[in-house]
Amino acid sequence: MSASAREAMLARRSAPKVTDAAPDDAEVADLLEAAGRVADHASLRPWRFIALRGDARNRLGDALAAAAGLDGEHGARLAGKPLRAPLLLAIVAVTRPHFKVPEWEQEAVAAGVAHQLSLLLDDAGWGVMWRSGPHTRHPLVAEMHGLADGERLLGWLYVGGVPDGARPDRGQDADAAARFSSLQ
Ligand SMILES: Cc1cc2nc3c(=O)[nH]c(=O)nc-3n(C[C@H](O)[C@H](O)[C@H](O)COP(=O)(O)O)c2cc1C
Repeated sequence: MSASAREAMLARRSAPKVTDAAPDDAEVADLLEAAGRVADHASLRPWRFIALRGDARNRLGDALAAAAGLDGEHGARLAGKPLRAPLLLAIVAVTRPHFKVPEWEQEAVAAGVAHQLSLLLDDAGWGVMWRSGPHTRHPLVAEMHGLADGERLLGWLYVGGVPDGARPDRGQDADAAARFSSLQ
């Protein structure tokens, strides 16, 4: 585990390829306890996560293929995508009408929790990659997750073990200086 939040953030990287090892529900819940401490207008807690393991990943794959209207070889290829990791954490924005907090603010909170959870999983040594796709918000995909009205997916954290010696390069810098300005 990193000595500081800054260290963990600078070291984080996405892991496109992971092994079959995965954190159990108790570990995910423990990390979520911390990840959930984001700024949250009116404390609506507008988020939840659903762990998809085993055959649930096949059901998601089937829903994605059906949403895309694909069958045969193309459908099978799309249906196989969720099998790239042993654990998918579906990120759900749980939005509701609120007189002070518009929907976009509630989705921003859910995204913030997902980013923090991704960072904590990475810092705990797991491989993580946030993935989405054109069918993320298709009704068949929502149905597969059992989403209620007002609940919308923000994608999935694909989680697994980091293959030996395969910690990918950090990649491009954020070039933060060029994205920061100041008004007086
Ligand atoms: C909301 C969201 C959806 C994403 N969806 C995908 C995706 O479907 N496929 C993909 O290759 N990367 C996707 N990414 C980007 C990766 O998670 C990752 O950030 C990117 O590959 C850069 O790697 P890095 O995080 O190590 O900088 C998504 C990121 C976010 C925040």
